[in-house]
Amino acid sequence: MKIFIDSADIDEIKQACEWGIIDGATTNPSLIKKAVDKRGGKVTMEEYIREILKVVPGPVSLEVIAVRSDEMVKQAKLLYEKFSPYGEVVIKIPVNPSLGDDGLDFDGLKAIRRISKEGIPVNCTLVMTPEQAILAAKAGATYVSPFAGRIDDYIRTKMGMKIGVDFKKGDYFDHGLLCRIRELKLNEFLMKFNSVAEAYRSSNVKDILDGSQDNGVTSGVDLVAKIVKIFRNYGYKTQVIASSIRNARQVREVAEAGADIATLPFNVIKEMVKHYKTLEGMRNFMADVVPQYEEIFKSQ
Ligand code: E4P
Repeated sequence: MKIFIDSADIDEIKQACEWGIIDGATTNPSLIKKAVDKRGGKVTMEEYIREILKVVPGPVSLEVIAVRSDEMVKQAKLLYEKFSPYGEVVIKIPVNPSLGDDGLDFDGLKAIRRISKEGIPVNCTLVMTPEQAILAAKAGATYVSPFAGRIDDYIRTKMGMKIGVDFKKGDYFDHGLLCRIRELKLNEFLMKFNSVAEAYRSSNVKDILDGSQDNGVTSGVDLVAKIVKIFRNYGYKTQVIASSIRNARQVREVAEAGADIATLPFNVIKEMVKHYKTLEGMRNFMADVVPQYEEIFKSQ
């Protein structure tokens, strides 16, 4: 699995690239806002993006800000032409750019088709369902970005949990435990019914199921796993970028699911390298170094 850094902060990007484990980067308007705010607004954007491209040893996703397909295509070409001389530019297009009742539901897909046909690689973003991922792949996207963390947030919210109160943004979502609890609850409930049909029709049974999943997707990792499975079923060439990743364990799980790439915030990359026993082991090894062994290195 490749690792991208999910950041527009040049300091973070430089540091992570120095660690030698970065294959690419993804940005979005919110990440760019964060980076600009950090610098008190003092950023010359074109120069700044050029710097990111020069540092990253692989694809860098830059997002369009238009919502109509014609304008998205124009912006995609502009970004691609302006920044390609400095690195590997990928254009991020939302799967559905509609902001409400504006009839723009398919403008993202139309834009993806046209941009991809011109040989410009597209990362289809804001993918929340396997169905959207299928459409993006059919339209010719090089990458799809399922937002695992936001789906975990959504399911927890559906269960009545509040972010910042019942869970923190970085908390691992234990969907395995949730599935077991749901199974037990369901079994308990099903015992009350006399027939299969009665149980199947029960709105309570439906509520237990619906309240803790998103239309059959049980977690963000499950969303990634389902997309990977579907793409492999049909030999789709579109690569899956597990996105909106919130913690190290989620990285492990999307890797187990077969994601081609995981795009990771700086803090998650830092979390991945740490373990209490590694730290303890290091301290013990350093304390046990004998002078005879140390002598070898003195001749350097
Ligand atoms: C990646 O391409 C996305 O922009 C990003 O992962 C979104 O992450 P968030 O849900 O933590 O904002």
